[in-house]
Amino acid sequence: MPIKPRVLAVDDEERNLRLMEAMLLPLGYEFFRAQSGEEALDIVRETPPDVVLLDIMMPGVNGFEVARRLKANEETRIIPIIMVTALKELDDRVKALDAGADDFLTKPVEKVELKARVASSLKIKAYNDHMRSHQRDLEVNQRNLEAHQKDLEEEIACRTKELKKAYERVKDASLDTIHRLSRAAEYKDEHTGDHIQRMSRYSVAIAREIGLGQKILDSILYAAPMHDIGKIGIPDRILLKPRRLEPEEWEIMKRHTVIGAQILQGSDVGYIKLAEVIAMTHHERWDGNGYPTGLCEKQIPLVGRISAVADVFDALTSRRPYKEPISVQDSFAIIAEGRGLRFDPYVVDAFFAAKTEILSIKEKFPDSSPSLFVEMVGLPNC
Ligand SMILES: [Fe+2]
Repeated sequence: MPIKPRVLAVDDEERNLRLMEAMLLPLGYEFFRAQSGEEALDIVRETPPDVVLLDIMMPGVNGFEVARRLKANEETRIIPIIMVTALKELDDRVKALDAGADDFLTKPVEKVELKARVASSLKIKAYNDHMRSHQRDLEVNQRNLEAHQKDLEEEIACRTKELKKAYERVKDASLDTIHRLSRAAEYKDEHTGDHIQRMSRYSVAIAREIGLGQKILDSILYAAPMHDIGKIGIPDRILLKPRRLEPEEWEIMKRHTVIGAQILQGSDVGYIKLAEVIAMTHHERWDGNGYPTGLCEKQIPLVGRISAVADVFDALTSRRPYKEPISVQDSFAIIAEGRGLRFDPYVVDAFFAAKTEILSIKEKFPDSSPSLFVEMVGLPNC
């Protein structure tokens, strides 16, 4: 509210306006006058008053209509309206209240009453102004808060995205390192590294056919390449021996399973734990004639039984320095013959059910350059 409260008096009779002006000016109010409803609305639009003294009976837009329009407008609805009228009938007062009148004065206007009514209305207006200002502050704060919240959410989304990227990079680097170490172990004997690409994917294809979930499939894909990592610990004179291994040498060769498990043991990373199990059990046989422990049937963990089929199928169908690949059909026949003997029958069934995917993997990851290493006698580790 300004320092001098603004009072607008609306009356079509000049002498009534002069009378009210004479009474209010000495009280320190800024006085505006209008002699019609139209003029009153113009003044309100240009210089909103703090209170309106409004005559009812005027030609043109009358007092009821002025009140209705002021109360219908969001900007002017908080301006108190004091109806000034000679009419005392109840109907007119009810109609004035419906139109939005806040108070009443009866003509002829008494100075004391005018002073009291205007002062009272100005207090209400001051309170309304305060509440409106408070409400606007609240709305501004709310908007600022929402904007801040939005900024914060965008910042969090951006950071989360960066974090995910960083995590993916670390994960990729970690997997890449594992893969290269696994290839190093493969390179140490007869392979080029393609074996672990295919063998791990064959294992996933079989596991998917069995119905394992995506999370375990991902773990198998990361873990299976490490199945022969224990070959790092086998002496070259045995691993690279170009002739058939003596029984005691074969016993040492078999230890690549245990060595691999020892290399991988103690990790709290899921797929490394899984790799430990695969390294330890991928040469166990369903009939109990495998190694290193001679587990049989379901004593062998499922991933061990799966990786056994995948490993042998790839060994059979791959070219090695000492042998040509066996045809896919003959390899399928060998796997089928091993059903219930060397291999878990349920896993063999899953292998054949995934035949299309198995062949697609084989085509996608063909043998690359021949190995530089010496030939071994027989199928290693089979
Ligand atoms: Fe092996």
